[in-house]
Amino acid sequence: MTRRLRTAVLVSGRGSNMVSLIAASRMPGYPAEIVLVASNRPQAGGLQLAQAEGIEAIAIDHRSHPDRESFERELDTALNARKIELVCLAGFMRVLTPWFVARWAGRLLNIHPSLLPLFRGIHTHRQALAAGVLLHGCTVHFVIPELDAGPIVAQACIPVVPNDTEESLAARVLVQEHRLYPAALSLVASGQARLVGDRVGFENGWPCEETIASPPLGA
Ligand code: GRF
Repeated sequence: MTRRLRTAVLVSGRGSNMVSLIAASRMPGYPAEIVLVASNRPQAGGLQLAQAEGIEAIAIDHRSHPDRESFERELDTALNARKIELVCLAGFMRVLTPWFVARWAGRLLNIHPSLLPLFRGIHTHRQALAAGVLLHGCTVHFVIPELDAGPIVAQACIPVVPNDTEESLAARVLVQEHRLYPAALSLVASGQARLVGDRVGFENGWPCEETIASPPLGA
């Protein structure tokens, strides 16, 4: 079996995507191993969940740092000390500086709850309802300095149905997030998807069905 890439997950909140990545990483043959969970918020629920899974969980409180770069230097040191090779942002609510992004270029993924490039930023489900789109979803992308932008690794969509609310959309998108992020991380960790300039290059010329799936109406 090929070596599994040492992966860290960065969270700021409840950590449900982190849990899905940990579960996937325990499947036979999965090409990434989650060895660290880090949060900028000591109270993040994700830290307790990671500990319960037996994974090292650390808090690096951004409020105890004078500026972003000083916070990021501590984070970078913690990642390097554990020989981390890939970093997954999963509900990590700190904007990263170009310095940090450059250090981890091509090795830093994020999941965003919209079909990028639509609906960057927060309240993505509210934005989708306001725009009247009929399809909504989530995106896993490589991180670049620009917020919620960057080469797309995988997307999944759901239909927007009558009477949908922010909450109902969030719940259905989250189901897809939990499926999509492990599939996307697998592609990147195995080398089947990699950053080539400002695009993602896929080993077989095209992503697998799992990472561009459209569930049927009502799913
Ligand atoms: C997810 O919707 C993710 O797409 C967004 O923040 C939320 C985090 O949820 N970036 P969780 O902490 O993974 O449960």
